[in-house]
Amino acid sequence: MPESILVTGGAGYVGSHVVVALVRAGYAPVVLDNYANSTPAVLPRLHALAGYAIPAVHVDVRDADALRGVFRDHPITAVIHCAGLKAVGESQARPLAYYDVNVGGAMALAQVMGEAGVATLVFSSSASVYGEPEALPIDEAAPLQPHSVYGRTKRIVEDFLCDLAGANANWRIALLRYFNPAGAHVSGTLGEAARGRPNNLVPLLCKIAAGELANLTVYGNDWPTADGTGVRDYLHVEDLAEGHIAALRHLAGVRGALAINLGAGRGHSVLEVVAAFERACGRRIARTIAPRRPGDVAASYADATRAAQLLHWRTTRDLDAICADAWRWQQQGGRY
Ligand SMILES: NC(=O)c1ccc[n+]([C@@H]2O[C@H](COP(=O)([O-])OP(=O)(O)OC[C@H]3O[C@@H](n4cnc5c(N)ncnc54)[C@H](O)[C@@H]3O)[C@@H](O)[C@H]2O)c1
Repeated sequence: MPESILVTGGAGYVGSHVVVALVRAGYAPVVLDNYANSTPAVLPRLHALAGYAIPAVHVDVRDADALRGVFRDHPITAVIHCAGLKAVGESQARPLAYYDVNVGGAMALAQVMGEAGVATLVFSSSASVYGEPEALPIDEAAPLQPHSVYGRTKRIVEDFLCDLAGANANWRIALLRYFNPAGAHVSGTLGEAARGRPNNLVPLLCKIAAGELANLTVYGNDWPTADGTGVRDYLHVEDLAEGHIAALRHLAGVRGALAINLGAGRGHSVLEVVAAFERACGRRIARTIAPRRPGDVAASYADATRAAQLLHWRTTRDLDAICADAWRWQQQGGRY
């Protein structure tokens, strides 16, 4: 019997790719989502890629009673917790919602996992827990000084999960600090379906190349980087998804809670990404330069050594693959 893995937020951008990677690795995923920022229309796509109807439950992760039902109905052995709210700007305006969903959701989930005797948890954390890096590349021992409400909710959940593992040696917890996931499933049938104007660079480029948005605003070309534009660590969402499989396998042999960066281990500037995207789509991306935004940093990229050593994982898809796959997704509609 394949192991049943609950994927909260399994209808979302990262979660849906994790679901497909789980099937490919021989697991039996169960999708949990309340569709706050996604749609059940992703499910037929998942079924098509998996070759069978993946079980899915419409549940809010804060609803402990409903979670108990899920653990009763499915022989779950581990949880990958992707459900959450993730828009940094929105988090500043709606702190209560972010603490409620991100912190409250993790607490309800841990409570019910404990009751059900399920102790293996992979948590979607974020490089935003680091805030402004003091040194590059950023390793897991770097200070955690998140700039935003969003980043603070991730740091708080990390602390909470470490405290759980400290109090009860049964827990096996991976805190995966994602850098900048981008791209789409190679089939073009799964991708990032932003509601409204996208916040992230690659989805913006998709909409601009498709003629849905006018031009790209580049915030600052006077950063202390090679071409003056901001540098970030972009990793292909399928690589990221495979990192969760590697984490699950690692947790089978260890106890406790451990933070692990998932990134490519190198950065690309905004202009490098634009150039790669222009190659992928064969169109020119119009851009305007604007002043730096407060709170932005010049460069951020991961030290991905721990993931390589412990998880035997590293990214295998480059920036050109990210752009080609994102553009394929956009050309197939870019939405569900
Ligand atoms: N995409 C990124 O750039 C990025 C970077 C770092 C970390 N993360 C983290 O990874 C996780 C997944 O991100 P994503 O990009 O797939 O975002 P997403 O919004 O596409 O997916 C999150 C999913 O969680 C669901 N959800 C939200 N609140 C819920 C609730 N109360 N109960 C059940 N489901 C709920 C949403 O409907 C959505 O399907 C998030 O926790 C996010 O903070 C994402």
